[in-house]
Amino acid sequence: MPCFSGSIAKAAGFDILSCVKLKGLILSGGTGSRLRPITHTSAKQLVPVANKPVLFYGIEALRDAGIREIGIIVGDTAAEIKEAVGDGSQWGVKVTYIAQEAPLGLAHAVLTAAEFLGDSQFVMYLGDNLLRDGISDLVEAFIQNGPDALILLQKVPNPEAYGVAECRDGAVVKLVEKPAEPKSDLALVGVYMFTPAILECARAIKPSPRGELEITDAIQCLIDMKKRVEPHVVQGWWKDTGKLEDMLEANRLILDVLKTDIAGDVENSEIHGRVVIEAGARISNCTIRGPVIIGERTVVHDCYIGPYTSVYYDCELRNSEIEHSIILEQSRVLDLRARMEGSLIGKNVRIARLDHKPKAYRFMVGDNSWIGIV
Ligand code: G1P
Repeated sequence: MPCFSGSIAKAAGFDILSCVKLKGLILSGGTGSRLRPITHTSAKQLVPVANKPVLFYGIEALRDAGIREIGIIVGDTAAEIKEAVGDGSQWGVKVTYIAQEAPLGLAHAVLTAAEFLGDSQFVMYLGDNLLRDGISDLVEAFIQNGPDALILLQKVPNPEAYGVAECRDGAVVKLVEKPAEPKSDLALVGVYMFTPAILECARAIKPSPRGELEITDAIQCLIDMKKRVEPHVVQGWWKDTGKLEDMLEANRLILDVLKTDIAGDVENSEIHGRVVIEAGARISNCTIRGPVIIGERTVVHDCYIGPYTSVYYDCELRNSEIEHSIILEQSRVLDLRARMEGSLIGKNVRIARLDHKPKAYRFMVGDNSWIGIV
């Protein structure tokens, strides 16, 4: 097939990627330390946002940008990720798993994937990042403009928690990973587009103070070598879901664009606003005020479920009020006396009132858990 530049190819109905070797690399290792205790037993990339694992949004963003070959970097949670994603055919992509022996940094992950990447250009996507507008336009800009790297930036109130970019006259002059005193409020979004030049830089850099080979330092090396690093400020929302507040916020943002769909049974209940009740779910004697999503086979009885709540599959909620929360599969919330809100409940958890004496709190709680009592 002849090769056309992006807009001409589009007008002529050609797939722009058919002329360019472009792969996807999703990073799905890491320890998820900021989401413990959930991540003691599960991969942070599989925590559901609006009842879909975060990682799946990334796979869809790459697929929607026309990428068909995706490498997924996995670590300790490899088995769980493979089980959830499979060979990628459910998205029409081919997935190759690449084991990283330890979470030694994003640039280390790139080096681990060197054989998979070959001489292709690639989009690197951190598996816990979510971007409202996807990446299709940016991938097209990357191919058309042909820089050595394209990085995405967004203004944040707490730049010290991210890689930070200093720009002058529309060009990036300096990138620093989690600086104590940030020179700007432009954070590096966890989606990057690279030519193979990044491999040389990933090999050249030294571990950072946190002991990792930072992709931020590898991109700085490209800048020092006078390679073209093109910055794009992302306009739509972006979330790194690595912390509870960000996970809840991502859930809120995705539920905000939910479309009503009632597949389960609803009996003697009031449903307001945009609500999804998945197949096999049973709702009775409830008030549900959307946006809310209730997963497959979940039973909700005598409850108020308020805005921005996602309940995953096979849960049971009875005689309780729940708002602005995420509840993972097979969990039970029974007879709460006050409303639960702003909460992330893991898999197979049971929260229930005990009526027998002595009147006491009883807990069996994992390491790094967090409990608020009224
Ligand atoms: C990583 C990158 C950082 C970037 C962030 C985006 O941070 O090192 O530069 O801003 O992802 O999500 P980490 O999640 O490893 O702390």
